[in-house]
Amino acid sequence: MKVDLLLGLQWGDEGKGKIVDVLTSKYDIIARFQGGPNAGHTLVFNNKKYVLHTIPSGIFHKNKINLIGNGVVIDPVILCKEILNIKNENIKISETLLISKKAHLILPTHRILDAASEMSKGKNKIGSTLKGIGPTYMDKTGRNGFRVGELENKKWKDKYVELRDKHIELIKFFKVNLNFNLKKLEEEFFQSVDELKKIDFVDSENFLFEANDKKILAEGAQGSLLDIDFGTYPYVTSSNTTAAGACTGLGISPNSVNQVFGIFKAYTTRVGSGPFPTELFDSYGERMSKVGNEFGATTGRPRRCGWLDLVALKYACRVNGVSKLMMMKTDVLSGFDKVLVCTNYNYKGKIIDYLPYDLSESSLKPVYKEFKGWSEDLRQIDSFENLPKNLNYYIKFLEKELEVPIVIVSVGPDRKETLFR
Ligand code: GDP
Ligand code: IMO
Ligand code: MG
Repeated sequence: MKVDLLLGLQWGDEGKGKIVDVLTSKYDIIARFQGGPNAGHTLVFNNKKYVLHTIPSGIFHKNKINLIGNGVVIDPVILCKEILNIKNENIKISETLLISKKAHLILPTHRILDAASEMSKGKNKIGSTLKGIGPTYMDKTGRNGFRVGELENKKWKDKYVELRDKHIELIKFFKVNLNFNLKKLEEEFFQSVDELKKIDFVDSENFLFEANDKKILAEGAQGSLLDIDFGTYPYVTSSNTTAAGACTGLGISPNSVNQVFGIFKAYTTRVGSGPFPTELFDSYGERMSKVGNEFGATTGRPRRCGWLDLVALKYACRVNGVSKLMMMKTDVLSGFDKVLVCTNYNYKGKIIDYLPYDLSESSLKPVYKEFKGWSEDLRQIDSFENLPKNLNYYIKFLEKELEVPIVIVSVGPDRKETLFR
């Protein structure tokens, strides 16, 4: 069995969904390994746009298996809405989608706990998508979680009630004024669970182990800087978004990993709270936001924008062992008179080239290298060879610094707007 990994190298929303869709024709199985409906993966083809939250991004291709791995947390309500949303594409979900029995379920009270925790933090809030991700992973690691396989037990509702009642007590602890109608949320939840049961639940690690003649692509969610261990803690998500997370989130061994595709935007964005050294508050940032249409695919919140941060990107390449890079949203930078790249940090008065423990604004200032911009509309360009001279120079510089080749340059949201080297 050989597995290629595809993951985001920044703070998420790099364009993972688009590239998974583009690469799916080369694979038999597409498998999500972590995260949950906090993810929003956008696919554009045939003048249509779809946003997937839990379903792997290979779903629109015929004769492919899409697997939701054990590392994923699933909200049945959101998953059912996703399935409904793609029904016009005539996809036979019962034949193409599989769910790991070991994946954990997000209960309505997990979502309420998420909201209560955020509310209690005030201005120090994480900026969570409020999908219940943190509380669900807390129950998982605390060994109290509710797994998909549990639904095969006739008495699953007893376990549900036990966990729900515990959550209700925990919600009181936060002492926040939160309005919710649990009865209504539960109605929706139970209906969705009935739908969920129509999908095949599998021992996904065994399924993958037996698929030894198949080509597998593991699809990451979020980005490396949101990793629970290596991200900008505590402003992170609650799973391992980095390469190692694919092993634990699917049950594959490290030596089965072949390529590690690292995806990054030609600039940087972040949605939610937390440090962002290269963040812009000027007309360049406004332009990125506007041209790049930088609004969250899950929450609709505006994404913060800034220049490319090579120090952070190099760190992400190392932590993941990235073997091939893919640069996204390159078209957004067309028309900028200059393009800056952060090559070092001034950290407490010292120039450094690594990510320090503390990324807070007061201790760290980015050091930039300036590049000449390019004005050509990249969406009209059909091959790597025809990219503008100044962009070529930018690409070569990044490859030299990162010591990893850039094999795809994306020049628009559509499947077709993808240049291969
Ligand atoms: P993901 O979470 O990594 O899958 O990324 P998102 O879907 O959240 O955000 C990426 C956004 O950029 C989506 O709206 C995509 O349609 C869009 N996109 C992807 N690649 C490109 C590109 O090369 N150029 C432009 N202009 N938009 C892109
Ligand atoms: P995709 O897969 C961008 C961010 C949230 C918040 C922090 C914690 O589309 O790239 P959580 O809901 O996990 O408790 O939120 O992580 N975040 C994302 N940002 N893209 C995502 O996913 C994200 N998933 C979570 O904004 O700052
Ligand atoms: Mg996204």
